[in-house]
Amino acid sequence: MRKIVIAGNWKMYKTQEESAEFLNGFLPTLEDTPSDRDVVLCVPYTDLTVLSQNLHGSRVMVGAQNVHWASEGAFTGEISAKMLTEIGVRYVTVGHSERRQYFGETDDTVNQRLRAAQEAGLTPILCVGESKQERDDGDTENVIFEQLKIGLEEVDQNNLVIAYEPIWAIGTGDTCASEEANRVIGLIRSKLTNQDVPIQYGGSVKPENVDEIMAQPEIDGALVGGASLKPESFARIVNFN
Ligand code: 13P
Repeated sequence: MRKIVIAGNWKMYKTQEESAEFLNGFLPTLEDTPSDRDVVLCVPYTDLTVLSQNLHGSRVMVGAQNVHWASEGAFTGEISAKMLTEIGVRYVTVGHSERRQYFGETDDTVNQRLRAAQEAGLTPILCVGESKQERDDGDTENVIFEQLKIGLEEVDQNNLVIAYEPIWAIGTGDTCASEEANRVIGLIRSKLTNQDVPIQYGGSVKPENVDEIMAQPEIDGALVGGASLKPESFARIVNFN
């Protein structure tokens, strides 16, 4: 049985005060949320403690947005898996396209981060996806297969979530057609040794399109950017039909 995982990615949004306000609006909307789905919020480092303190006893799990591969060391600006688990973090996104594009993340560093996360007991969400140019050139499958081949070396597929996020659909309002997302996610699954790894779709997921996306048979969840910043819209997504 594949698990459903709905995760918000706040990116670099929200101070501690703003995160507390979000929770005040969001937590009451979870009362009738079906128990078949995991709900995760991947937030900036400074918001992690606010969430872990306020989410104690709730069904929402706390996620970070990156993790370093070393357990400690001279790596200015980085954070270790142990530092995250100490404060109650359970999930971490790895290899988000914004990290690959702006911060020099490679498939090899993604692989090291995934393994370090798992060793510490975190569940990594590996993000893969093609650019507009790669799609137009007919390279979508090759790009994603390469990201998976290197990214997943020696990674435990029993403690893993994958997010298919076509870069051209992120923050653009230009959602990938749900049938196409379903097709690519099916291809991703065909490369895995564990068929039960949950695979999410990400890229302009909104209250208006979540039901259609989640109705696709291969899609096991969503990784949501902009629409996870408002309690009402994220609540509608979490409570998809
Ligand atoms: P948007 O939902 O804002 O398109 O962002 C998607 C994303 O990058 C989630 O990780």
